[in-house]
Amino acid sequence: MNRKQLIEKYIEFFKSKDHAEIKNSSLIPENDPTVLFTTAGMHPLVPFLSGESHPQGKRLVDVQRCIRTGDIDEVGDTVHHTLFEMLGNWSLGDYFKKETIQFSFEFLTKVLEIPTERLAVTVFKGDSDAPKDEESSQIWQELGIPKERIAFLGKKDNWWGPAGNTGPCGPDTEIFYWKPNDTLTPEKFDTSNDDWVEIWNDVFMQYNKDKDGKYNEAKQKNIDTGMGVERTIAILNNFEDNYQTDIWQPLIKQIEKLSDKYYKGNEREMRIIADHIKATTFIIADGAVPSNTEQGYVLRRLIRRAIRFAKDLGIPQDADVTTPLVKEILEIYDDYDILQNNKQKIIDELNKEEDKFEKTLEKGLRIFNKHSDQNIDGKTSFLLFQSYGFPIEMTIELAKEKGIEVDEEGFKKEFEQHQKLSQTASAGKFKSGLADNSEQTTKLHTACHLLNQALREVLNDKEIFQKGSNITPERLRFDFNFDRKLTDEEKKAIEDLVNKKIQENIPVELEELSIDEAKQKGAQGIFDSKYGDKVKVYSIGNFSKEICAGPHIKNTSELGTFKIKKEQSSGSGVRRIKAVLE
Ligand code: ALA
Repeated sequence: MNRKQLIEKYIEFFKSKDHAEIKNSSLIPENDPTVLFTTAGMHPLVPFLSGESHPQGKRLVDVQRCIRTGDIDEVGDTVHHTLFEMLGNWSLGDYFKKETIQFSFEFLTKVLEIPTERLAVTVFKGDSDAPKDEESSQIWQELGIPKERIAFLGKKDNWWGPAGNTGPCGPDTEIFYWKPNDTLTPEKFDTSNDDWVEIWNDVFMQYNKDKDGKYNEAKQKNIDTGMGVERTIAILNNFEDNYQTDIWQPLIKQIEKLSDKYYKGNEREMRIIADHIKATTFIIADGAVPSNTEQGYVLRRLIRRAIRFAKDLGIPQDADVTTPLVKEILEIYDDYDILQNNKQKIIDELNKEEDKFEKTLEKGLRIFNKHSDQNIDGKTSFLLFQSYGFPIEMTIELAKEKGIEVDEEGFKKEFEQHQKLSQTASAGKFKSGLADNSEQTTKLHTACHLLNQALREVLNDKEIFQKGSNITPERLRFDFNFDRKLTDEEKKAIEDLVNKKIQENIPVELEELSIDEAKQKGAQGIFDSKYGDKVKVYSIGNFSKEICAGPHIKNTSELGTFKIKKEQSSGSGVRRIKAVLE
């Protein structure tokens, strides 16, 4: 079975269990301050897991591209990838433990025909926050999983979310598959044995973690599941190494050709190159470009790490590493329009970054080697960063390989002295979290809608549209198409209009409409909605009407005073406003 067949079978199976297929989302979350990337299929569904009603109902299914950079050091083994596809099914306050476990078991053993003998599961062992999950264990046993293949583990292993600080979360049950083809499945499930590979996670989202760290029973009990496409295809084809499957082999073959070396003996380097170029191809397609902050920095780090390993493999400096790989990726994933439509941009951005880094890599390595008879101090690591383009993580990795350390504190001090330390560019800011639907973010979200309309009115241009937004509890950021700087008078007029609307105490109203109805009513927004047929439309009196997943506050009077802090360019023909509520 190949990737497309697996995805199709999964979606069909859950459709037959009354799930609606939802469209997948960008890797770069909209309106989400706390994360850089979509890290799980549930991510775009956070508002609905928190109680908003979903226009397509209570049972949903999809395949979602995800990026995880938390375990980037594990990339290079047989099963971890930076970009992966996650199959997921959700119950929003509908079915719960028994049905989800039954669905998972039926899909694995009946549709995919995986023998029960090769499966084992883990369940939550209980702690002061939540009780031991005897119920799941019982359900598994009734389905035929013997007691010896059920392990009870703690929060570290059997609890999922919130990926940020607050939000929906709960105990989970994870399903493992015995990989080796040449040995019988051991009777007892040893969770520390890596030959057991996790393929699916069923999360019982019945808690809500608040900002004091307390787990409160959620009003709505949800199911959130995630199955890894890459791992599952590998096992279905009896491969113990994901990279042997047809979604990786064309890349590995290209790298073999470029380096004139065999995969065998060079597995780690080749896997890292293939993994990182695939991830960066998708990230660029979803709108990021290499830079020193946020998603752009992750992108830069991944591309440069791939180039560094290409050099280690002996690929000549003048060889174009990225283009042939991108071409293979586009062929493998020909079902992603976002890739096909951005082909040239992906190639150009990767080439630019590759060329830039190849110019300095060799010299930088020489400097690193000169200093590597002892730990690397802050000055040297900063020099490597500033003048030779070595992301600090790369210097740390090089040091680790030599058994030495990097003075990270010293690096940070140097960094701060030279420029205001951008939070995101600093080391360690790559863990992702979830949207917090805090009151302040919700307010700023409603303010975005007011701003969106105020811009059109004050600038007297009906063709102004939102080009992106990002909200943290402190401020909103709003991008829109406009080709010049705003004057002080215009900014003032926009502020005044938004504040006028706030003072008018207008209720914010929600309707669920078909896309056609929304269009007819003049709603702003993206009509190619990822939520399918029905969309949510939020109206603020007669002033604003937008398609949006929400959530929003109930009345504009709750907002306070709107203030524009900055107006600047954000690419050609796009302006960016940063604003706050005081
Ligand atoms: N959200 C769950 C996970 O990512 C399913 O494992």
